[in-house]
Amino acid sequence: MLIITREVPPDVAARAAREHKVRNLHITGAFDPAAFLAALDGANAVLCTPADRFDAALIGALPGSIKVLATYSVGLDHIDVEAAAARGLPVCNTPDVLSAATAELALTLMLMAARRAGEGERLIRAGAWRGISPTFHLGTSLTGKKLGILGMGRIGRELAVMARGLGMEIFYRNRSRLAPELEQGAQFCPDDASFLGVIDVLSINVPASPETKFWLNEARIKLLKPGAIVVNTGRGSTIDDAALIAALRSGHVRAAGLDVFNHEPNLHPDYLTLENAVLLPHIGSATIETRNAMGFVALDGIAQVLKAAAG
Ligand code: DGY
Repeated sequence: MLIITREVPPDVAARAAREHKVRNLHITGAFDPAAFLAALDGANAVLCTPADRFDAALIGALPGSIKVLATYSVGLDHIDVEAAAARGLPVCNTPDVLSAATAELALTLMLMAARRAGEGERLIRAGAWRGISPTFHLGTSLTGKKLGILGMGRIGRELAVMARGLGMEIFYRNRSRLAPELEQGAQFCPDDASFLGVIDVLSINVPASPETKFWLNEARIKLLKPGAIVVNTGRGSTIDDAALIAALRSGHVRAAGLDVFNHEPNLHPDYLTLENAVLLPHIGSATIETRNAMGFVALDGIAQVLKAAAG
């Protein structure tokens, strides 16, 4: 039996039901490990989501009948993968298929932040729009500006393709330099100063890891040009919220577009007070096409592991 923790799109639910006996726990809101464990009875596979934390204690408490843990995400930061490996539990995720959708959302946030789109919408909805003038609601253009991509993996490279369409020049920071056919003319920056000091927009596209925790801190924010824009569709833990909030207040960072946060869904409350922060609820991969594809990749992974386990 396959346990699915939360609602999945109908096409994914239908395929899961064709391939397995399924129990969907339909969890909404906080994940309760004790209730989850109590519902497992006889299951051999689990499909979880990034909202479900599988720490070492929970992984250690899983019954031996569970042969595979799949997650409806590319990110694995909610799973203690070392504990899973120690227990011999294969973990599957959903890489590749969400790159374009996540890049689209990064571009959305870049445009919204640059053109003050959220603020304009709030103005209209508040009934406060009094008409236009040459100085009304001025933003800044992205065309001709320099985009800095932190993390030039698949999502970063998709974003580079889209941003080039806007006439942006691409710079990137990555563990290592890419081959020219992947760089497509993007300029590799070997250190933070040569990266942050030249770009107009920073897009964070790295996963959560000990190395990226609070990467965008006060010191690095100071290296940014005054008036830079910051966008994050990776993981909230890459940003030191207090430092970014201070920079948004002072205007050193013109605007931020954030889809991911520390302590989701309980983001730092000060963001809510900032007109120059565009805030979205972790919807980088939330298109029906992408969520179907992610579900199918997860089911493929489960099938592969169970087939291998059956010998
Ligand atoms: C992922 O796949 O890691 C996304 O952040 C969740 O959709």
